[in-house]
Amino acid sequence: MRILHCSDPHFDLSLRSIPLRKWFGKRAIGAMNLMGGRGHYFDNADEKIDALVRFKETHAVDLVLCTGDYTALGLEAELENAAELIAPLAQPPERFITLPGNHDIYAKDVIHSDAFFRYFGRYMHSDWPQYSVDGIWPFVRLFDEIAVIGVNSAKPNPLPWRSDGHIPPEQLEALGRILADPRLADRWIFVMTHYAARLADGRPDRKQHGLRNADDFLRTCRPIRRGAILNGHIHRCYRTDLTPDGLRIDLYCAGSITMEGRECFWLFNVDRKGMTVRRGVYAEGEYRLLECTDE
Ligand SMILES: [Fe+2]
Ligand SMILES: [Fe+2]
Repeated sequence: MRILHCSDPHFDLSLRSIPLRKWFGKRAIGAMNLMGGRGHYFDNADEKIDALVRFKETHAVDLVLCTGDYTALGLEAELENAAELIAPLAQPPERFITLPGNHDIYAKDVIHSDAFFRYFGRYMHSDWPQYSVDGIWPFVRLFDEIAVIGVNSAKPNPLPWRSDGHIPPEQLEALGRILADPRLADRWIFVMTHYAARLADGRPDRKQHGLRNADDFLRTCRPIRRGAILNGHIHRCYRTDLTPDGLRIDLYCAGSITMEGRECFWLFNVDRKGMTVRRGVYAEGEYRLLECTDE
């Protein structure tokens, strides 16, 4: 089975189309950030998604996982635009799985309006809803020899200088029970969330930007015998050996699928015998695979 893990498309809306009354607090700062030079890094995202759809078809990808950050400011208009742009990649919808990034639920009113769920809820459901303890989380999806488990680490950050995440303890507790379910014993297990539990060098991310309860999360994942932890949020692809944390699986950060000059993703090829992982990159209008994961 071939699994493509991508993240952080940060689809850009022309700022002119965002109503001025929406520009307040953190959103205004986020908007200024974009105008201050960050925005152009995410230009041509639609062309890149088209190229990724071509890659997916050429390489017979079975399942696409996206670990969030579709937008810059989490506005309704952006979510609508992002859902439209991602739709060709999310075919068939039951083979596309996602969850929100911090940018998608930037402010509390987005949470309260349930906007992310309205546009992306069709890609977030559970085959084992008996384990969902916090809305739909954690969700479990089963495909042949694979299980994909999603936990939500994104939350609104009312303080503009903070972009840290947190997995609610009840989700971690349910994750622990899922991992103890004997029906998962022979499966490859992929746990996806937006925030990075570890950086490329194995250290935790800084407090204001990282996953606050990363240690608890990793401890909960220790029973996993084979598979991977998948995240985004940090806009660089990297793989981290989690042996120092007592885990038998590695962490993969999928960086950003669209960020100019850094476009990347991971492709996992899994069967009963083993797993190979290769990194995808973008050049001259097409995505291609590098020879090995360390390139
Ligand atoms: Fe991001
Ligand atoms: Fe993020």
